[in-house]
Amino acid sequence: MSQDSLLFYSRRGARFGQLTRTLHRHFNVFLITTPDGIDDFRNRTIAAALVDSGGKDAAAGEVIARLRDLPNGGDIVIGLVRDTDTEVDGPDPGDARADTEFSGDLPVATMLSAFWSAYERRDSLAWNALDRDSRKALVTAKEAFDVMANLPSDPSDPAFARALFSTAATRLTQVANTPRTSLMLEQLRGHHNYTFSHSTKVAVLLSGFGAEIGLGPGEQRILAEAGLLHDTGKLQIPTEVLGKPAGLTDDEFEIMKTHASLGGDTLQELYPDMPEIAAAARHHHEKLDGSGYPDGLKGIEISEVALLAAVVDIFSALTDKRDYKEPMSAAKAFEIMRPLAGSHIDGRLLSEFESYVQDSWIVREAAAQRPLTPPDRTSPPRF
Ligand SMILES: [Fe+2]
Ligand SMILES: [Fe+2]
Repeated sequence: MSQDSLLFYSRRGARFGQLTRTLHRHFNVFLITTPDGIDDFRNRTIAAALVDSGGKDAAAGEVIARLRDLPNGGDIVIGLVRDTDTEVDGPDPGDARADTEFSGDLPVATMLSAFWSAYERRDSLAWNALDRDSRKALVTAKEAFDVMANLPSDPSDPAFARALFSTAATRLTQVANTPRTSLMLEQLRGHHNYTFSHSTKVAVLLSGFGAEIGLGPGEQRILAEAGLLHDTGKLQIPTEVLGKPAGLTDDEFEIMKTHASLGGDTLQELYPDMPEIAAAARHHHEKLDGSGYPDGLKGIEISEVALLAAVVDIFSALTDKRDYKEPMSAAKAFEIMRPLAGSHIDGRLLSEFESYVQDSWIVREAAAQRPLTPPDRTSPPRF
């Protein structure tokens, strides 16, 4: 998977073997042992750094200052590792603006917990600069994501999901900060809150999945926007229909289905510069065998963004909590989705998406020994 890069400066790296191994699960970790080592990273984006100032290392302050001097230096989340029983010679490295400090004598789990808190705080600070509605959209996205990802309270396992969220949240921050998108989101939230939170969840997953399969930041941003807006056609569907538990009548289902073309039409006008946004809205309910709606497209007639949106949308709908059903586990959702591969959804994308969520959710669910929740529906799911 594509991972952010983390620089670890230490002259006594062996002491932090366990910490480094854990970080390797979340980042591309580069070890450097001198301040000059930073020069090799001038053309690479560094997301985070740990700077070990223990062992009377006077160069730690210089390392932090030089990290801040990098082109994206202000965005790097820097953790300063001190030794409680060691006086550091030279200038106090804390003066060079680390984001968090912790003792190198602490258990690895506690150090990681402090570091992840700083990582999350960075996102929250970025959000504070947004207008109220955009911020609400992101906070809801984060809550939806946290609930669904079933993040452990045990800080010894800082979730893989947090790293994924961090990537996706960056894209969402950019997206929700545009006036046309935040306006649409606000309308959606006012009309039907569930559709709003469902959409933010789809956006988080879709852009994170895009990063996973190697798409660049611009494409991830489009995916985030497509996710946020894919169901905006539901603005024109009566809330009595939207709020009804599973088991719509045929007439009601026909009304519900119109959200795809209605959303596609609106977004085509509002986003003429980003045709993928309208495509995702219009075609996220198309099926490979041509039995989907609204246009009955088949196979390669369905655009890539719509194929991606379909996989993520179904997964999200199954794992969403509704008033009338508990959230389904990720494992159970994939059990239901696998037979749809080839006829309804793209099998390759499904298996890639499954690996994307596997580490963070299925393993955790198994670890928590949470029983698989059977689908609680009065009628078969209709996608
Ligand atoms: Fe939809
Ligand atoms: Fe949806």
